[in-house]
Amino acid sequence: MRTQVAIIGAGPSGLLLGQLLHLQGIDNVILEARSGDYVLSRIRAGVLEQGMMDLLRKAGAGARMDREGHLHEGISLSFSGRRERIDLKQLTGGKTVMVYGQTEVTHDLMDARQAAGAQTIYEAQDVAVHDFYTDHPRVTFVKDGQLVELHCDYIAGCDGFHGVTRQSVPADAIRTFERVYPFGWLGVLSHTPPVSDELIYANHERGFALCSMRTPTLSRYYVQCSLEDKVGEWSDQRFWDELKRRLPADVADTLVTGPSIEKSIAPLRSFVAEPMKYGRLFLVGDAAHIVPPTGAKGLNLAASDVSTLYDVLRMAYQEGRTDLLDKYSEVCLRRIWKAERFSWWMTSALHRFSDDPFAQRIQEAELDYFTGSVAGRTTIAENYVGLPYEVVG
Ligand code: APR
Ligand code: PHB
Repeated sequence: MRTQVAIIGAGPSGLLLGQLLHLQGIDNVILEARSGDYVLSRIRAGVLEQGMMDLLRKAGAGARMDREGHLHEGISLSFSGRRERIDLKQLTGGKTVMVYGQTEVTHDLMDARQAAGAQTIYEAQDVAVHDFYTDHPRVTFVKDGQLVELHCDYIAGCDGFHGVTRQSVPADAIRTFERVYPFGWLGVLSHTPPVSDELIYANHERGFALCSMRTPTLSRYYVQCSLEDKVGEWSDQRFWDELKRRLPADVADTLVTGPSIEKSIAPLRSFVAEPMKYGRLFLVGDAAHIVPPTGAKGLNLAASDVSTLYDVLRMAYQEGRTDLLDKYSEVCLRRIWKAERFSWWMTSALHRFSDDPFAQRIQEAELDYFTGSVAGRTTIAENYVGLPYEVVG
């Protein structure tokens, strides 16, 4: 088999890149270890920056998002028993975010790819990348018991944090940076009206809480929990009681509870791999970096990587500008480290790290200070809506 760009992984990164390249006539094949149904069963975050919205539309997969997604003009931070609104739109000269689930984004991209007739090979086993430091990279995999070889010009590693591509680069060529946080998030999805029209991020001495949503009848809530906790130890009643304790009283009083339809615990991690290009292999999205979910940046960072890789590949194929491929890593990493900083800051300011009351008061002072001035609120707002994409070339 032969293609121009071999894409490993059919998560949002791989699907978005594949679709954008396909629309420019750049041939690509996506190899995915799991089945399409499995990929669609994963519940992830759901806040899209402007850059991600624009890319989805450019990929011809934005129509349902524009119909069913909800634009949000603000978020609230709650601490010390009060609530402070960050007016995203006013503080950023008109920018907003879109609440639309990542599962739906993936669904729309899969549909667009299928409609375009582009090839995705699901349940591709033993995917391995070879010869990416030469001009003739290859990918091998096993499909239905047969070993298949895919020849290509470039490989895009869109295979997530646990994927094979990052693990295939020589140990002395890669440098990684990591912080693992000493707590997790317990998330609940329920068919109840969201407690607020906008997201509420809560600092509380019992731990962090987040009120989010998917639709006007589908809520998503989280509470910080111990990494030792098991989902089975958290009955719905215990979850709702704990969530209410961590919210300002006026919010807790109006919370509508109901049976959970999904409940899971996720660890929190910051991680960056440098560089993001190894010969003709490019790492994209979660394969190269992880952020804790507190700033809603995971999917959006994947989108900015895709945008940059799409730009440099398009200019390499259409204008012969192969020199720009070498810019991919540095351009991506500049934006990634700023989003890592913001996600780490949000996590640090909002979670309980210890039972030290001094630390709690310092967090409250920090939140009071940042929300108490236009400069502080603007800093939060411009990072939350997403920093600008860098133009390459
Ligand atoms: N071979 C083929 N496919 C693989 C392999 C492999 N060895 N390992 C992993 N994959 C697939 C996974 O099954 C998954 O479908 O790669 C895909 C990676 O998708 P994601 O983990 O969703 O990563 P990415 O596409 O970069 O999405 C960005 O942003 O909000 C965050 O973590 C969230 O998934 C989200 C991410
Ligand atoms: C979510 O709705 O799942 C969500 C929203 C915002 C975050 C994290 C998760 O920061």
